[in-house]
Amino acid sequence: MELTNKNFPELKNDRLLRAAAGKEVDKVPVWVMRQAGRYLPEFQAVRAKHDFFTVCRTPELACEVTLQPLRRYPHLDASIIFSDILVIPQALGMTVEMHPGLGPVFPSPLKDPSEIDQLQPEGAVSRLTYVGDAITLTRHKIEGKVPLIGFTGAPFTLMGYMIEGGGSKTMSKTKEWIEKYPKDVHKLLKLLTNVIIDYLIMQVESGAQLLQVFESSADHLTREQFIEFSAPYLKDIRIGVRKAIEEKSLDQVPMTVFAKGGGHSLDIQAHLGYETIGIDWTVDPIQARKAVGENITLQGNLDPQDLYKKPEEIRKMTIEMARKFGKHRYICNLGHGITPQTPLESMTAFTESIHEAF
Ligand code: CP3
Repeated sequence: MELTNKNFPELKNDRLLRAAAGKEVDKVPVWVMRQAGRYLPEFQAVRAKHDFFTVCRTPELACEVTLQPLRRYPHLDASIIFSDILVIPQALGMTVEMHPGLGPVFPSPLKDPSEIDQLQPEGAVSRLTYVGDAITLTRHKIEGKVPLIGFTGAPFTLMGYMIEGGGSKTMSKTKEWIEKYPKDVHKLLKLLTNVIIDYLIMQVESGAQLLQVFESSADHLTREQFIEFSAPYLKDIRIGVRKAIEEKSLDQVPMTVFAKGGGHSLDIQAHLGYETIGIDWTVDPIQARKAVGENITLQGNLDPQDLYKKPEEIRKMTIEMARKFGKHRYICNLGHGITPQTPLESMTAFTESIHEAF
């Protein structure tokens, strides 16, 4: 049966894993955050029939949409399992709905710290086995064409959604918690960290070949707040995953941290134990390299809005960007997720041109 058989097809394109490990590559690997998404008509067709979280929870559907961008864009060097960071709050007992045009909505967000004790961390990962099943199924169906990336939200980002009840421009409630209840905030971040570690290990056991941690709300934090509320937990996650993989005698898996808006603390991120650091477009590649040193791979960072330019312009910008990063220790990506109205030919220009850059 495909969900129990972990004897996966041999990997034919290891550029992503080589770049993450600091090995030489023939061409710079490329993938795109949210590459399975609404800009693809074939994704829209699946979503017309199925609710967002139904797609996440049904391994056959999650696998299908994970494979969609690879079929259309043969230059992609990686796939990322289709899911969402908010499946963790769901597994902890919270209700999360995806409202078209609005994004994620929590009908009952955390109102005050006394509600932390109502969360159910015990058995949370066993309620996420559908993600593992989707990963295992996809590893078979992908036939070793490219590696499969697993992912999670980072503790601070998840906490923000759980307190705000959805996306927030200001994070005002979360900041109030930080101000009024710092101890409870740390208790919640620790709870999330422990669940995240077990969740990532489960993804590795299921077949994930690289793991990315999304600290998407780092843009709300000062450097000092990042040091207090994000960095220690990101580090614990990296250490915890490495240790468990070792204890289980599995092969080690490289990890990427992507702190959107975290350009203020790249030097700190460089000491968290991650092989790769993702950067958004507000950070200059040359400055980023100076901040993190030579022993870390950088990932990024074209502005997703640049994909609205003409294909020729996109090619030029991609090549210019790549020359700043250099061929070594570099994974080409956008600086954040691709947006729904992106023209299909923009992705062709982006993914093709990077392979011509060096
Ligand atoms: O291809 C891939 O990248 C894999 C799939 C993926 C999704 N979400 C699917 C998705 C990944 C890696 C995520 C991560 C995620 N989810 C993050 C971190 C990355 C980031 O963007 O900063 C965050 C913050 C979320 C939470 C979330 N999910 C938001 C804020 C939204 C609404 C924004 C939007 O684009 O509509 C989602 C919805 C979502 N997650 C969609 C997809 C394809 C679109 C919803 C739909 O199909 O109706």
